[in-house]
Amino acid sequence: MRAVVTTGAGGPEVLSVGDVEEPSPGAGEVLLEVVATAVNRADTLQRQGFYPPPPGAPDTIGLECSGRVAALGEGVEGWSVGDEVCALLAGGGYAARVTVPVGQVMPVPAGVPLVEAACLPEVAATVWSNVFMTAHLQKGERFLVHGGAGGIGTMAVQLAAARGAEVFTTAGSPEKLELCRSLGAAHAIDYREDDFVEVLAAAGGADVILDNMGATYLGRNVSALATGGRLVIIGMQGGSKGELDINALLRKRASVTATSLRARPLAEKAAICCGVVENVWPLVASGAVRPIVEATLPLEEVGRAHELMEAGGHAGKLVLTL
Ligand SMILES: NC(=O)c1ccc[n+]([C@@H]2O[C@H](COP(=O)([O-])OP(=O)(O)OC[C@H]3O[C@@H](n4cnc5c(N)ncnc54)[C@H](OP(=O)(O)O)[C@@H]3O)[C@@H](O)[C@H]2O)c1
Repeated sequence: MRAVVTTGAGGPEVLSVGDVEEPSPGAGEVLLEVVATAVNRADTLQRQGFYPPPPGAPDTIGLECSGRVAALGEGVEGWSVGDEVCALLAGGGYAARVTVPVGQVMPVPAGVPLVEAACLPEVAATVWSNVFMTAHLQKGERFLVHGGAGGIGTMAVQLAAARGAEVFTTAGSPEKLELCRSLGAAHAIDYREDDFVEVLAAAGGADVILDNMGATYLGRNVSALATGGRLVIIGMQGGSKGELDINALLRKRASVTATSLRARPLAEKAAICCGVVENVWPLVASGAVRPIVEATLPLEEVGRAHELMEAGGHAGKLVLTL
């Protein structure tokens, strides 16, 4: 079958479309005919050789897709061949066909075109699990998400605003700040010019922070937390080793958590996907939360899609079609 292959670890030039063996679904798995997939920052790390797939996952890159059910493995119920779905993957999305544990197969939210649905599973599952299942963001609380115009950011801003939080976000250009406001951010902060700690301190502190930067923002994020605040770190764009002022945490009775979605046990991923279908999809169907797509490219242009992601000029997601 057609799939993205690599000539080894390296830059976007190592990516091309080739032929690989087609997978077949094991017990509890569904085989999907992929219609579209989407690019995640982790994909660029995997390409560079820094983020190998977990045991049992395909070598092919790709953490999400949309498509049609092509076959059901032993014991799978609830889906039929031909159903249009989207799925959270541990790998293998950049290919014509992929197998996925049934708990990670989700319906396409009502009203969303099948191609666009490819860019929802990873961001919806990441934001739902971290902001709502782990940090328990409540209506009326102050929520700060860094990088509000990115893939994760555009979902986090919309979902938190739709559920009644007061949303603060950071972004790096006037156009991206404007996009964040249009998605529901009450406060969009230019991280090149302004200090988010000052903005949050003036407002009373953040109850929940979703952070993509890691080390470089650790101290400032803790300073920006309110009493009882919850900082959840999901990215290390600013490095992995920082200094934590335990006294500051202790005084605020605050917490710091870091999570990764890809390596979670299947039962946890299934619970997250259930939560997404129950809580996020209705907001997508109502139009309160929508997929934000910067560009849709054919699979053959996968190298260009990775270049765009690494250049950082994009807003929202980059979709690849098969
Ligand atoms: N742990 C997990 O399970 C998990 C799952 C999915 C994603 N992630 C992580 O989440 C992060 C976002 O992923 P993505 O797919 O949304 O990537 P993306 O679309 O490339 O977004 C990256 C974001 O980083 C922002 N950024 C860069 N420098 C910044 C700074 N100094 N301060 C604040 N924001 C800054 C960018 O803002 P501008 O564009 O405005 O400059 C952009 O919004 C990545 O680190 C990724 O690895 C983790």
